[in-house]
Amino acid sequence: MPARNSDTRFGTVTRTFHWLVALLILTAILLGVIANRLPHDTAEALARKAQLFSFHKTLGLAAFFLGLARILWALEERRPVPLHPQRKVELTLAWLVHWILYLSLVAVPLSGWVHHAAMTGFAPILWPFGQTLPFVPQSQAVANAAGAAHWVFTRLLGLAILLHIAGAMKHHLIDRDATLLRMLRGVSAPDRPHPVRHAALPAILALALYSTAAGLATLLVPNTEAVASAPPPPPAAGNWTVEDGTLSITVRQMGAEVTGSFAAWTAGITFDETPTEGRHGSVVVTIDTGSLTLGSVTRQAQEAEFFDVATHPTATFSADILPAPDGYAAQGTLTLRGVDRPVTLPFSLLIDGDTARMTGTVTLDRRDFGMGQSYDDEAAVGFPVVVDVVLTAARS
Ligand code: HEM
Ligand code: HEM
Repeated sequence: MPARNSDTRFGTVTRTFHWLVALLILTAILLGVIANRLPHDTAEALARKAQLFSFHKTLGLAAFFLGLARILWALEERRPVPLHPQRKVELTLAWLVHWILYLSLVAVPLSGWVHHAAMTGFAPILWPFGQTLPFVPQSQAVANAAGAAHWVFTRLLGLAILLHIAGAMKHHLIDRDATLLRMLRGVSAPDRPHPVRHAALPAILALALYSTAAGLATLLVPNTEAVASAPPPPPAAGNWTVEDGTLSITVRQMGAEVTGSFAAWTAGITFDETPTEGRHGSVVVTIDTGSLTLGSVTRQAQEAEFFDVATHPTATFSADILPAPDGYAAQGTLTLRGVDRPVTLPFSLLIDGDTARMTGTVTLDRRDFGMGQSYDDEAAVGFPVVVDVVLTAARS
């Protein structure tokens, strides 16, 4: 059985590539659709969903690299001539579908990979592939755009595969020619090949379709600006004004750390370097819980099981600022999901004239606030939640 293609047959290399890639792609589609539909309401359900997504991503990447090798191979290989060179419309359609399939081999897994790499958390890619990509920043906006592209491109791929299989079946069952058997068993046909020039039209059409699909994807990108530009809570009183800062949380999920932050929060700070009756001042932090983004699990984090944004749109931390061994401590009450708990946040302060830079970290236990009660297994969602605060404030 010859390894290379000829004018009348597909060689073993092309056929092995074709069926291996087809198998990987069809399995990746099946896993993607099933994983997407699985519930995530309990720890076991979430673990199952994440595991299927991990398989989906790993298999998808295997398809990507094999697909690249296949494309390089196809660039060098001659193609067997069509069995019905006179059927111009049918040929154009078949080649258009082939071009869409070739483009999909790159665009579909790459968009999935960029979506994954732009966000931390949920369903890691299994060995030997890394979780990040050197040219992809950690950004919700990039992740959303790539996610929308993955969604649209998988639809285009699905449609192309359906047409492709329908075409193969038509040849086999209606025309009763050797089109399928050439790819399946390496059968040689026709007896007297009639050379055909490959037209540019199908390639141009396929590129145009892919560009349209990419344009469509931009319309589907969820509007993250809406969250970021939600009206901020009113400025809080105090003798220091927060100029900028980040309030972030980190939690372990399925064994990987996920970090996210609140886009909208305010802090009213009263602070004096010289303590009065053992107190340096006080702080009241108001947090818009709906402004949280947490990697790929933002939606889940906002649901009733966790932050319950619909019922508790704000969380507050009211504390006294006390001296502490390595700086200061904000000691008070955190109200989250309507539950009050004492919390002490140690922090360091660098005061330069009328500007202060504050850095503090505290680890909370989500169970103290009744968060994620049905996730009682730490392997799915860790109990500790690390809160990091970094801010710059100006004396007013
Ligand atoms: C040839 C390879 C691939 C194919 C054919 C494919 C196909 C699919 C399909 C059909 C879905 C389900 C969409 C739905 O039901 O709405 C999906 C979802 C998804 N895929 Fe892929 N995929 C591939 C590669 C990848 C890769 C390499 C990654 C990441 C490294 C990835 C990440 C994802 C993610 C995160 C989702 C869920 C998207 C969401 O829920 O918004 N995919 N994929
Ligand atoms: C059960 C599913 C499939 C069947 C029955 C099938 C059948 C065939 C057949 C009969 C041919 C030869 C067409 C010709 O002689 O012009 C072919 C070619 C091709 N198939 Fe498939 N295929 C399947 C799945 C896939 C999938 C999932 C992909 C990739 C995403 C794919 C990509 C291609 C490409 C790119 C060619 C063109 C090869 C060339 O460059 O000449 N196929 N397929």
